[in-house]
Amino acid sequence: MTWHGTDGHPRLHIVTGKGGTGKTTVAAALAATLAARGRRVLLVETEERQGISQVLDVAPLGTEETEVATGPDGGEVWALSIEAGTALVEYLRLFYRLGRAGDLLHRMGAIEFATTIAPGVRDVLIGGRIYDSVRRTTADRGAGGRRGRDSGGRPAYDAVVLDAPPTGRVGNFLDVTGQLADLARVGPIRNQADAVRGMLHSATTVVHVVTLLEQLPVQETLDAVHGLGADGLRIGAIIVNQARDASAREQVDRVAAAEVDPEHLASQLATVGIRTTPTMVDGLVQTAHEAIQRRDLEVSLEGAIADAGRPVLTLPHLPQGVGPDAVWRLAAELARQGVAL
Ligand SMILES: Nc1ncnc2c1ncn2[C@@H]1O[C@H](COP(=O)(O)OP(=O)(O)O)[C@@H](O)[C@H]1O
Ligand SMILES: [Mg+2]
Repeated sequence: MTWHGTDGHPRLHIVTGKGGTGKTTVAAALAATLAARGRRVLLVETEERQGISQVLDVAPLGTEETEVATGPDGGEVWALSIEAGTALVEYLRLFYRLGRAGDLLHRMGAIEFATTIAPGVRDVLIGGRIYDSVRRTTADRGAGGRRGRDSGGRPAYDAVVLDAPPTGRVGNFLDVTGQLADLARVGPIRNQADAVRGMLHSATTVVHVVTLLEQLPVQETLDAVHGLGADGLRIGAIIVNQARDASAREQVDRVAAAEVDPEHLASQLATVGIRTTPTMVDGLVQTAHEAIQRRDLEVSLEGAIADAGRPVLTLPHLPQGVGPDAVWRLAAELARQGVAL
């Protein structure tokens, strides 16, 4: 089994997709899939939205890693919300031995100022914090402590799952060195960016893309697969979320095969005691045509997704919405479909 990346480090799974397609839900489900296999997983969000805590129904996440779920065989999901300001303070402590002065800068608003004027720096800091979690070993003292390269010990996490920015921004987010070009040519920020870049471009990292079977999300998915692939990132699975169940599709297939004839429809309805007006029948025929069109669109979108040449996983639309139970259900579904993690 190839569990660890080929360079011996745990896997970093980056989950992106058009906004609202289910990135947070799928990231949580991937983490749960791993935990169900007995792994120790860190689930990370970077956008300060508290999406993970809402999906898993736990207290709002902080900048300290906390355990949020346990798998049946001793697997664990830990979670973390990376906040750029805190990451910068940690960073200043580490490299400039600023100590409490960093906190003072925070209170003065200087950190917010620095991370706002230089979004590239913000992404390097967030990337650096993720790097730390991927590389840290059980022999290290914790976040922001010594890096664990030579310290022995097991990796602190078997895998890290990142609920990443949406497709529209993820390219910039992952291009940590490109964004810094003019800002920091040398120095510790630059070194950090290079280390993060090395991790993102190694066999450790895979990017999964979440989509719905709709035109725009699929277009963004294909653009992301090509764009990120061209940037040298490894693309994992394309995950079609909120798919309609097969029986709904089959019903539409039957209607399409029967070619809806208004007169036939009216007489059939009459045999079961339903009296119709021509307007009603027109409405029904119109609805049937729309359903057929939507099915045809979905079939062509599925074809376009398949042509991207990546493994495709499909998750059902859960009418009761998403909570902790649903996350485990979706995780079981990912495992059943043989998700490669
Ligand atoms: N498989 C699903 N079935 C039903 N509702 C879902 C499913 N996946 C996501 N949702 C719902 O869709 C909305 C967007 O999901 P979310 O994971 O927050 O997306 P994103 O992080 O991409 O914005 C949320 O309300 C979520 O509960
Ligand atoms: Mg989200």
